[in-house]
Amino acid sequence: MLIKKPADIPSSEITPKSLYLNRRKFLAGTVISGAASVAGMSLGELAEPMTVQANTKVEGIQESSFSTTEKITPLKDVSNYNNYYEFSTDKYEPAKLAKDFKTRPWTVTIDGQVKKKQVLDVDAIMKMATPEERIYRHRCVEGWSIVVPWVGFSLSELINKVDPMPKAKFIEFTTVLDPNHMPGQRTGVLEWPYVEGLRMDEAMHPLALLCFGMYGESLPNQDGAPLRIVVPWKYGFKSAKAIVRIHFTDKQPINTWNKSAPNEYGFYSNVNPNVDHPRWSQAKERRLGEFFKRPTLMFNGYDQVASLYSGMDLKKNF
Ligand code: MTE
Repeated sequence: MLIKKPADIPSSEITPKSLYLNRRKFLAGTVISGAASVAGMSLGELAEPMTVQANTKVEGIQESSFSTTEKITPLKDVSNYNNYYEFSTDKYEPAKLAKDFKTRPWTVTIDGQVKKKQVLDVDAIMKMATPEERIYRHRCVEGWSIVVPWVGFSLSELINKVDPMPKAKFIEFTTVLDPNHMPGQRTGVLEWPYVEGLRMDEAMHPLALLCFGMYGESLPNQDGAPLRIVVPWKYGFKSAKAIVRIHFTDKQPINTWNKSAPNEYGFYSNVNPNVDHPRWSQAKERRLGEFFKRPTLMFNGYDQVASLYSGMDLKKNF
């Protein structure tokens, strides 16, 4: 997705030198273009040796009727190919750079137009409802996609417990600001902290997931531990990682990518094969590990959200 400024930022600046040198060594021995790096081969085979973190099993997970029956993308691919600019703009690096990031203690501030303003411990949030496994398609705006068994429960479960006021028309998610431990935040690649938002009815849709795990265990750091959202009918950048604040507001939030490149990334960012990104088509996608591209589906195949947008011009509200 970065597209705008990476050329200005030598990777030596955002990566510890040893990793940078290793990566250079790796690249020198292997000619891969960005596109080829996801084509045909397992990412695990292509990338440098990676670590999948040992995580904690989530107890009492129930199945969900929202799950797709499509083939699940292997964990090693999902957790070693990440967009997490707080750590790096290189998709292979968050797995290593986030390895020792501390996700406890961790609190989430609930504020704004809500009756029960409070600061909640993440472990208390995780106990608010029965965890479900939701196997969702996850489509990145850059054209790759994965199928992930996320663990969490509908965001609406939390929203209902904190009692929003009628004025609350939107929810703004702010993610953690910790430049001492997040090397990407010591660069100007994006404005920090990362902010995302949803309209209240989108946030209340049962498909919108408050997520704290995947593949039966707590989230690996590089996938957004300890708490993220997953909005499967929108491009991946709407699914903010490492959330520390949920703010209820009457104003449409200005999300980070919209601020960074307003003509390229909108507020809604619904997956839409009929609306191209200004610099590439969105008609097809490549599932990680597959060679041939497949057609991208409207709302990423989650037709049940269509009524949220009836009467809206989705070209204008991209
Ligand atoms: N959240 C934060 N805090 N920082 C980020 O850089 N990247 C987004 C989104 N959430 C991002 C983020 C983008 S562009 C995508 S595609 C997804 O996370 C990727 O999620 P994944 O790495 O778990 O596949």
